[in-house]
Amino acid sequence: MGPSSSNRFRILVPLLFLSVFSSSVNLIERELTAGAVLYLLPVSAGPVGVCYGRNANNLPTPIQAVALCKSKGITMVRLFDADPGVIQSFADTGISLSITISNSDITGIALDQNVADKWIGDNVLPYVPATSISSIAVGTEVLFTNVANLSAYIVPAMRNIFMSLKTNNLDTSVQVVSPNSMSVLSNSYPPSAGVFDPTITASIIIPMLSFLSQTGAPFMLNSYPYYAYVNDPTGVPLEYALFTSKAGVIDSNTQLHYTNLFDAQVDAVYAAMAAVNFTNIPVVVSETGWPSKGDSNERAANKQNAQTYNQNLINELVRDHAGTPMKPGLQVQAYIFALYNENLKPDPESERNFGIYFPDGSEVYPLNFYGGTGTVEVQNRTWCVARNDASNSSLQIALDYACGPGYANCNAIQEGGPCYEPNTYVNHASYAFNDFFQKSNMDPRACNFSGTANLTQRDPSYGSCIFYARNPSSGCLSSPQVFYYGFSALVTLLLLPVWRI
Ligand SMILES: *[C@@H]1O[C@H](CO)[C@@H](O)[C@H](O)[C@H]1NC(C)=O
Ligand SMILES: *[C@@H]1O[C@H](CO)[C@@H](O)[C@H](O)[C@H]1NC(C)=O
Ligand SMILES: *[C@@H]1O[C@H](CO)[C@@H](O)[C@H](O)[C@H]1NC(C)=O
Ligand SMILES: *[C@@H]1O[C@H](CO)[C@@H](O)[C@H](O)[C@H]1NC(C)=O
Ligand SMILES: *[C@@H]1O[C@H](CO)[C@@H](O)[C@H](O)[C@H]1NC(C)=O
Ligand SMILES: *[C@@H]1O[C@H](CO)[C@@H](O)[C@H](O)[C@H]1NC(C)=O
Repeated sequence: MGPSSSNRFRILVPLLFLSVFSSSVNLIERELTAGAVLYLLPVSAGPVGVCYGRNANNLPTPIQAVALCKSKGITMVRLFDADPGVIQSFADTGISLSITISNSDITGIALDQNVADKWIGDNVLPYVPATSISSIAVGTEVLFTNVANLSAYIVPAMRNIFMSLKTNNLDTSVQVVSPNSMSVLSNSYPPSAGVFDPTITASIIIPMLSFLSQTGAPFMLNSYPYYAYVNDPTGVPLEYALFTSKAGVIDSNTQLHYTNLFDAQVDAVYAAMAAVNFTNIPVVVSETGWPSKGDSNERAANKQNAQTYNQNLINELVRDHAGTPMKPGLQVQAYIFALYNENLKPDPESERNFGIYFPDGSEVYPLNFYGGTGTVEVQNRTWCVARNDASNSSLQIALDYACGPGYANCNAIQEGGPCYEPNTYVNHASYAFNDFFQKSNMDPRACNFSGTANLTQRDPSYGSCIFYARNPSSGCLSSPQVFYYGFSALVTLLLLPVWRI
């Protein structure tokens, strides 16, 4: 029998221990999922998904797209429609799917519960639970589109869809959302001064937030630092958009330090929601990305920038379970736009080049969805690995804790992950120990695990299995929460022998 990195700890970790870890960090998730305590343990769905746009006539089949997603460890996919063949293709894959009601269907659904029921009957009921449908997006960026009066119908349509889900006992597993662009904010700088456009606040935003708050669904934001940069290249430093800024920006109201525009955009939405008294709705980024190619006047659209943006985004979200400065520890989920280049999108050229993959399935540039060294400059690195003289049983215990309450990201050592083979205690524990150690800001005390761990300067990465290492000279990713996790886990390891008896 081989080691297990996640299944066992779910059984092992008693609820008692969660109280040791309760902290402000998880308060919001807790409030939203009262009773669903295991939800706090990040095990399966990674925080980074992809948008599977299909505005093209040369794409591989959905089955091939599914295989591609699985091979990259992608666990969340967003569709811009509800194509039956595509939804069917994601059955029994473990990938969660967000599907979309097209803008043209919104009015009918808003005006007639029977139309909503039929939509759910046609597009959801035949495919669940084999396909894991996590959310239904009612339209895409409906606000401020030129479609006559559609805005007024969004929330009524969301309510009718929710009622249909409730009738079918799906309201707790499928969330009803509606993605918005940053243009719903009339101000987003500094982030703490974020505020919704007053022309839609009372009529649409507040009813939408009430609905999201009541149903526990997130506010979906399409966040494109690329466009913020392109629209104001002198005001927005490229490095700030690409997560490579050394200085960052201080929010003068809160003194919070922003190292990147992505966090600043998400926090502007949190501030705007707080300004109308909604503080318990998480933000999920329903689209973000960077084009790899553009017209001659689109110089920021190139492979290098696209890879830098997307890999740094993944690293930030995957490695640190990163929240934003305003909501540290509340992990942000994001969907990268897009899986493939889409040749039927209109001009400019950049529009057709947001894909991570060419239609033939080859990569436009490499991305490591588990969080890799990517384009982040790394020097003087230290890793934490399992001692090769540690006993299997002590490694299993340490592994359970690293992947459980220790919040290590153990996706890569799940079956099918790039670090699953060799399927040995030493290898799996090494991966988990290292992830925990890096997240603890390389504090040597976080590389002990009851004496089963060992520091090393030799990169343990092999093949496509990347053991990430933080660059000590750019400690900007550290945060009190990271220390908190580290400390909590040390406390738990000390308590462990007592508990085992
Ligand atoms: C759109 O709204 C305007 C003003 O609120 C109204 O006069 C018009 O009839 C509406 N059009 C449709 C198609 O509902
Ligand atoms: C938010 O709450 C404050 C204090 O209770 C109140 O004064 C304010 O009017 C509320 N704002 C909105 C938009 O409801
Ligand atoms: C790496 O570490 C050594 C010793 O700690 C130090 O002398 C050297 O300056 C470091 N190099 C870089 C690039 O930080
Ligand atoms: C611990 O790491 C050191 C330095 O890399 C190495 O020399 C030693 O053999 C390791 N010990 C074990 C038990 O793995
Ligand atoms: C420990 O587990 C490894 C596989 O991970 C196995 O090869 C080895 O024999 C085990 N050692 C003991 C002492 O059971
Ligand atoms: C590591 O853990 C062992 C056993 O729990 C303990 O004796 C030792 O002092 C710890 N080392 C450090 C550096 O904390």
